[in-house]
Amino acid sequence: AALVEHTFIVSQVRLNRLCNDTLVTVVNGQLPGPTIEVREGDSVVVHVINKSPHGLTIHWHGVKLQLNCWADGAGMITQCPIRPNNNFTYRFDIVEQEGTLWWHAHVASLRATIHGALIIRPRPGPSSYPFPKPEKEIPIVIGEWWEMDLVELDMRLRNGNLFDVPRAATINGQTGDLYNCSAHVDFAGAIKESNILNVEHGKTYLLRIVNAALNSEYYLKIAGHKFTVVGADANYVKPYTTDVITIAPGETVDALLVTDAHPGGRYYMIAMAYQPPKPAKQFPLFLSRGIVQYYDNNASPRKEEEALPNTPMAPEMPDQHDAVPSFYFYGNLTSLQPHPLPTIVDERLFYALDAGYFCREGGSSCQNVSNIVATINNVSFQLPETTPLLQAHYYNNMKSGIGTLPDGSPRMFNYSMSLAPTSKATSVRKLRYNTTVEIVFQSPVIADSYSNPMHLHGHDFFVLAQGFGKFDEKKDVKTYNLVDPPVRNTVHVPIYGWAAIRFVTKNPGVWYLHCHYGHHSSTGMAVALVVENGPTLDTTLPPPPADFPSCDNYISMLAN
Ligand code: C2O
Repeated sequence: AALVEHTFIVSQVRLNRLCNDTLVTVVNGQLPGPTIEVREGDSVVVHVINKSPHGLTIHWHGVKLQLNCWADGAGMITQCPIRPNNNFTYRFDIVEQEGTLWWHAHVASLRATIHGALIIRPRPGPSSYPFPKPEKEIPIVIGEWWEMDLVELDMRLRNGNLFDVPRAATINGQTGDLYNCSAHVDFAGAIKESNILNVEHGKTYLLRIVNAALNSEYYLKIAGHKFTVVGADANYVKPYTTDVITIAPGETVDALLVTDAHPGGRYYMIAMAYQPPKPAKQFPLFLSRGIVQYYDNNASPRKEEEALPNTPMAPEMPDQHDAVPSFYFYGNLTSLQPHPLPTIVDERLFYALDAGYFCREGGSSCQNVSNIVATINNVSFQLPETTPLLQAHYYNNMKSGIGTLPDGSPRMFNYSMSLAPTSKATSVRKLRYNTTVEIVFQSPVIADSYSNPMHLHGHDFFVLAQGFGKFDEKKDVKTYNLVDPPVRNTVHVPIYGWAAIRFVTKNPGVWYLHCHYGHHSSTGMAVALVVENGPTLDTTLPPPPADFPSCDNYISMLAN
């Protein structure tokens, strides 16, 4: 096992996209930021040097961080932000995880530009990928281009009722060839800012796909090609062949691309944002386009009449409001290996998710509509303002303003939830060490529903099932996959539907559980799971690192 060391210098730079120079906060001047490449078993050290005007943290999304909650980098959950002109070094190990994960800022909405891939390859030696060795690995980081300050974006959302949308979708930081300086969308325009993937005919490529976008689930297609999905969230899945990949914010997918199309051809790769059929605000069609371009390895010279058109072939995309391909995609993922699943469930939690413009006093004749609020079981999560939850927990000081989130039940589920009265709290749920927890997440089943990619820090979980409609305890538990459910860190709770997960609490600390849509997590669709210490020293959270950042003026730092 090796030590992999990186230095992340966070600063504001001007990047030119969509013909404008925009000031963005990035790592090492790049968007996306540097890819961390490791092997399973390696130790990672990242020195973060904050030369930006924002307080920030870096979260290692999906890394299990056993007994290392202090390194989780969830702003005000596990640590105070690293102040401007300050440094902090994150240290963690990669244990029993292989595939693609990623890292991102975990303060306000800064993750829209502070993010990068984390690639975990198998240890050197005889055991390797459980699929044919790819010719090359290609990171595909899907994101969004925002022409506004991301800290302000968060403020506007929380304090001003303003729901902003990005200017464009991006692939690997580029807006793609759909945009040029004279027109917003110009299919025939000069290819600018384009993503060209040069491939050789007859090879297998491993695409390491990350959705780093703040607010949208994406459909990814390549004209004339299929994908074979082999992993998701750094867990192997049974090879699943599909022409469309669905990926929600926070998720990763590893997929093989076999280049068996016409040698010398050019094929569009399109990432298109899915939009719920009844969005609160009408969204434009968001897509980013790249080109998979074959270079002629020993292909026989093409005959005149076979000459390929200059225009690459375009894939037929699903309708931007069609959730069915997404539902099938998730439903077809199973784990590569069967699992010995914990069958006795100690804690059953039912989390009803909601987001929207809320009525302060409830009732259908609401007069007093409040800010945009998102909730779990009608409680809107508030970040603590002075002491991060992990420190409060460690020093046995969880007191003022911290409440217990009610466990909920399918019977409490309210069909007209967007008018439900809500409360605000820093809500936690305590769990004993070595407890088997099952959580059923329920998306709204009202007309303007939406999906919810729920992410749990520091743990992988089994995704037992998903379904449409209101979760039915009697009927739906029979659909649980207790043999080979996929193992993930983010579960896509379908629009108008529900999803069930199960995991065992083996990692003491405070672990954030939240929707990975920025507009949902910033406005309160979150809870902190507090996993208590086990009985022995090696099941006990160690003390914080000596140089752990302290908080003063967290809120004013954000406003900076
Ligand atoms: Cu990828 Cu709490 O986030």
